[in-house]
Amino acid sequence: MLSVASACSSSSGGGASSTGTVLRSKAKLPAPFTVPLPIPPVLKPVRSDAAADYYEMTQMPAKVQILPGLQTEIWGYNGIFPGPTIEARSGRQIVVHQRNGLPVPTVTHLHGGVTPPDSDGYPTDLVLPAGGATGIAQAQQHANDAAWSFQSGEKVYTYPLQQRAATLWYHDHRMDFTGPEVYRGLAGFQIVRDDEDDSLPLPKGEREIPLMICDRAFAQDGSFLYPSVDSTLREQAGVPNNYMQGVLGDVILVNGAPWPFVEVTNTRYRLRLLNASNARRYKLALNPQPRKGPSFRQVGSDQGLLMKPVDHQAIEIAQAERFDVVVDFSAYPVGTNVTLTNQFGEGSASQVMRFHVVGQARDESTVPAHLSSFQTLRRSDAAVTRQFNFNQGNRDVWMINGKPFDPGRMDARPRLGTTEIWRLTTDQHHPVHLHLVHFQILSRDGRSPGAYDAGWKDTIDLGPSQDAEIIATFSGYRGRFVFHCHNLEHEDMAMMANFDVV
Ligand code: C2O
Ligand code: CU
Repeated sequence: MLSVASACSSSSGGGASSTGTVLRSKAKLPAPFTVPLPIPPVLKPVRSDAAADYYEMTQMPAKVQILPGLQTEIWGYNGIFPGPTIEARSGRQIVVHQRNGLPVPTVTHLHGGVTPPDSDGYPTDLVLPAGGATGIAQAQQHANDAAWSFQSGEKVYTYPLQQRAATLWYHDHRMDFTGPEVYRGLAGFQIVRDDEDDSLPLPKGEREIPLMICDRAFAQDGSFLYPSVDSTLREQAGVPNNYMQGVLGDVILVNGAPWPFVEVTNTRYRLRLLNASNARRYKLALNPQPRKGPSFRQVGSDQGLLMKPVDHQAIEIAQAERFDVVVDFSAYPVGTNVTLTNQFGEGSASQVMRFHVVGQARDESTVPAHLSSFQTLRRSDAAVTRQFNFNQGNRDVWMINGKPFDPGRMDARPRLGTTEIWRLTTDQHHPVHLHLVHFQILSRDGRSPGAYDAGWKDTIDLGPSQDAEIIATFSGYRGRFVFHCHNLEHEDMAMMANFDVV
């Protein structure tokens, strides 16, 4: 049996930092900060024309070394974890041809993308294995269900990217199986750039680093441990009841490597932080703290540049959120080892990675006092207010407004181009994500937004017994999109709903 320790399963408003249960590794784990930080390779388009850049990826199993001396089977885009990074430009369409070389159905969603519904990775738009769909329960049970669609072996996803520069990411979104499929490695960065962001004197090139942070547990032989009731992921969905709160690992990976280190010069760096964990929240801090200045100057949120930088000594980041921060390593003497810690973690989960400040270098970068201009949405802009409650159901189900997800039921019908306020309430930690739209946070518990709420967001970190309001304009595309909790075990256990932009 798997050994378990409960990190938090109470519904109190107390200080517990994540909703989930820890799964402990059986494998021999490396000493922290002994493995170099990998940077995912940038994918090259297979061709380009006036209309678009065209990419191809194959989702496939691969054996990789994550823990020194052991092999881990991953499921990765092009067989790597994280998948390759796509570098895109605002307003320039990209087309991604995804082939499914896995033994299970997949769905690919571009998180944060303003994407037409047929390319958005709706959870029931399944791409069946190229090797055939025999033995896949969903394909049989829903063959004649109008809310489901099936494509064989491959799908072409089109992303117009009519949106500002931001750190997006793509990941699997298969109905009922997103948690285990992302856990096995189906996630990668897609960075959108634009002239406004490029023109700022922020750190660039090798001094801009994407960091995908997630937690995993490993079996003795090095394979990923995940408590699926059906480890083939072909017949039965779900995890045992004691994991329905969420699966927490005890190994922290950054860009797929356990507690890695990276050498930096004593200059500024731009770090694009992404929490790609299933259920773990982090409170990231630097140890030691810099002699002067803040640990982090936040320049961007989920959806790109803030108006002006926001300084933090620590950053709370929930699943799927992104924080774009500048760290100034000139505040440390050369030779200092600076650890990125997780103040929410216990034991092995309290450390994330380490920066070795190794050399002197020139630094022309700065963080300007003004970063970007955009409209602040006002309460009076909203035509409609809706309320959604995120709560545990009676048994092994999580619900929104008392209902488990039904792909055939529309839970809201916003009109294209109109602005709405959504009031969101919770019982536990539920990071809530809306597809298609970007929002601003209006209030938390009747007060002003919090320290981590600035700028344009697509995911809001909601704590236990919270009551927050977000405001969004439903522009872009008509059609059916989901919103859901981004604790992937909650999502797989039905904490998802539809809005239909009409
Ligand atoms: Cu990052 Cu609907 O998900
Ligand atoms: Cu949740």
